[in-house]
Amino acid sequence: MFQRRENRRAVLRLGVAAAGLAVSPLVARGQGTPAATPAGSAGTLTIYSGQHEALANTLARAFEAASGATVSVRAGSDSDLANQIIEEGDKTNADIFLTEEPGPAATLDAQGLLAPIDAASLAKTDKRFNPENGHWLGYAARSRAIFYNPELIAESDLPGSLLDLGNDEWQGKFAYAPTGAFTSTVAYLINTIGADETLAWLQGIAKNGENLLKNGAVRDAVEAGQIPFGLSNHYYWYILANEMGGPEHLTSRVHYMKGQDPGGLVLASAAAIPAASRNQDLAQQFVSWLADPAGGQAIIAAESPQFPLAPGVESRFGLPPLSELDPPLFDQGSLKDADQAIALILEAGII
Ligand SMILES: [Fe+2]
Repeated sequence: MFQRRENRRAVLRLGVAAAGLAVSPLVARGQGTPAATPAGSAGTLTIYSGQHEALANTLARAFEAASGATVSVRAGSDSDLANQIIEEGDKTNADIFLTEEPGPAATLDAQGLLAPIDAASLAKTDKRFNPENGHWLGYAARSRAIFYNPELIAESDLPGSLLDLGNDEWQGKFAYAPTGAFTSTVAYLINTIGADETLAWLQGIAKNGENLLKNGAVRDAVEAGQIPFGLSNHYYWYILANEMGGPEHLTSRVHYMKGQDPGGLVLASAAAIPAASRNQDLAQQFVSWLADPAGGQAIIAAESPQFPLAPGVESRFGLPPLSELDPPLFDQGSLKDADQAIALILEAGII
């Protein structure tokens, strides 16, 4: 019995190792599952995912093909799923928590609910986007960005800093959406300029900006010329450019704020393993695959205009190289107090 279990583990390790090299071309050519590991033979993995559903499902199916495991995805918002993992405690069904934003993973980590990630997995991706303590992996990233309509404002006339947007000159000039990445920005500001100044900034945003609730709505309003510029996550613009057949079919453009301005914050999406997961080995294998240039990173590069984080993996969506951006440097694990950020957003009357 012991022998058989060891053999199965060895097969699984081989399957994942081989898949790390080969799954992406196999999937791309539609050749399906490697024959050595029929579906379900290598265990089951449950992913709680706040990531965009199409990407999470594509990653799940590709890992099934790579490992022979059966993967189920429970979709929800980052914060709802984090709360669910907290409530479920030792009985959680989550083997992996896949987020859009770093904060919800950091929140679980602050409560001691995460297992450390294997160092070899962390070493596969750009270390700036892993938390300093290595308790989760940054598997993709989104940059905060300004979408602007050059028929209404020149790029050179855009604000020099996110912190200026409360000034009178910007009244009625911009739109925003108080979603996850906005909350992450507020958490970052609390850590860097303090709660009082952050609240004053939020009050300026509430006074001057147009709250359009969703990043897609911000993008569409700028593209339609309804407002000169908007705050969003870079990838919403590239999704539209891709749908329209290329950036030349759009009027709007993307501006990345430089000088390590908080308006150019780059935020990691997190892959975390709840310490209470009963499938630790398979969960670690999933994270290793997710970080692999020929595994999950190739899928992200092909399927979503979020930034893949393994060196040498290039997105097919025409993103600028991450090395050309100039975001603030900070510990991605430091944005753990979403509650305080949300409290300030409420206090400013934004939501
Ligand atoms: Fe999103």
